[in-house]
Amino acid sequence: MAATAADHAGGTGLSSERIKIGVLGGGAWGTALALHAARMGHDVLLWALEKEVAQHINEDHENKNFLPGFPLPESLRASNDIKQVAAHGEILLMVIPTPFVERTVSQVVDAVRKDAILVSCTKGILNDTLETPNHILKRVLPQHLHSRLAYLSGPSFAAEVAKENPTAVTVASEDDAVAQRVQAMMSSPRFRCYRTHDVTGVELGGALKNVLAIACGISDGLGFGSNGRAALITRGLDEITRLAVHSGASPLTLAGLAGVGDIVLTCTGDLSRNRSVGVRLGKGEKLADITAAMKGAVAEGVLTSRSAHHLALKQGIECPVIEGIYKVIHEGADPVEVVTKNMSRPLKAEVDQRVAQAAHH
Ligand SMILES: NC(=O)c1ccc[n+]([C@@H]2O[C@H](COP(=O)([O-])OP(=O)(O)OC[C@H]3O[C@@H](n4cnc5c(N)ncnc54)[C@H](O)[C@@H]3O)[C@@H](O)[C@H]2O)c1
Repeated sequence: MAATAADHAGGTGLSSERIKIGVLGGGAWGTALALHAARMGHDVLLWALEKEVAQHINEDHENKNFLPGFPLPESLRASNDIKQVAAHGEILLMVIPTPFVERTVSQVVDAVRKDAILVSCTKGILNDTLETPNHILKRVLPQHLHSRLAYLSGPSFAAEVAKENPTAVTVASEDDAVAQRVQAMMSSPRFRCYRTHDVTGVELGGALKNVLAIACGISDGLGFGSNGRAALITRGLDEITRLAVHSGASPLTLAGLAGVGDIVLTCTGDLSRNRSVGVRLGKGEKLADITAAMKGAVAEGVLTSRSAHHLALKQGIECPVIEGIYKVIHEGADPVEVVTKNMSRPLKAEVDQRVAQAAHH
């Protein structure tokens, strides 16, 4: 997506227009995005699945279940009526874990405004079909809404957005005007949105980095230090880039916010649930005990590790880090043995030929 004249114009570049925004999903990320939009002055209505989440937001002005400790403005309202929320938003943020996207969005197809822009903020790949949210949404939504779809991704812990830490994300859409509209309506001095056409790169970067976060957590849990983590981040990025480029993405997208940016965040940041799952696995805990203790919160990387491995097999791309995490999580492999095996593979060139060619183009 090329820069426009407006990109280089003077002034702050931030819009003072305020609109109606609907948010589907009252988890940590949906609540943080709703809070951000409400702080900007938008008229925000959030759909929560759980009765008590909507009640807490409306009466106590806090999401005690998923984002405790952050006071929410009274202007941020919540509802359990999904159609009401879908009909509310000129921009509809969809912040649903991947396994529930289809079921949730199917309920609102008739309620969505004709002029709505639908923004998926989900990061994952379905296990059985290997679909990303883009594929699911295009299957479920009528044709006229396909060009109204956008995807928001990048390094953004919900709690840090709630704290108003400076955050940068990227918005992908096949339609430049749609990406620009989301960018204009969601950017503030604390939350800067870039834009791109590369939906595939943004979605695969956001989903696959969660697998890498588990890998880095395991490495840290085993005490493999900074060298081990840096090696995993870099070689993991190589695997993610190869998988994404094979699916049609630009390698440059994976060098951006939705790739390197989110990988750095989740592979090094203590707020990452996926990394925390890895640390506990590395220390010898069982996955079932770890996920049971998460009280409904989702570590998408656990599911995505299966999808990522099967995507690599389907594409015929060797991904030893992803395969190793799949084996540790789903087949109970010993992480130390996986590392030893990976480090003993035949020696090779660092840069993959196909990625080098794509970068050249
Ligand atoms: N938490 C973050 O910092 C963060 C940041 C960026 C992206 N994301 C992505 O956002 C998405 C949502 O994650 P989250 O962290 O907000 O979730 P969460 O783990 O905080 O909460 C779980 C969410 O799943 C919903 N849910 C559970 N069962 C459901 C069902 N049957 N139907 C519909 N919804 C159901 C719950 O209502 C809740 O909204 C994920 O794809 C995640 O990868 C999260």
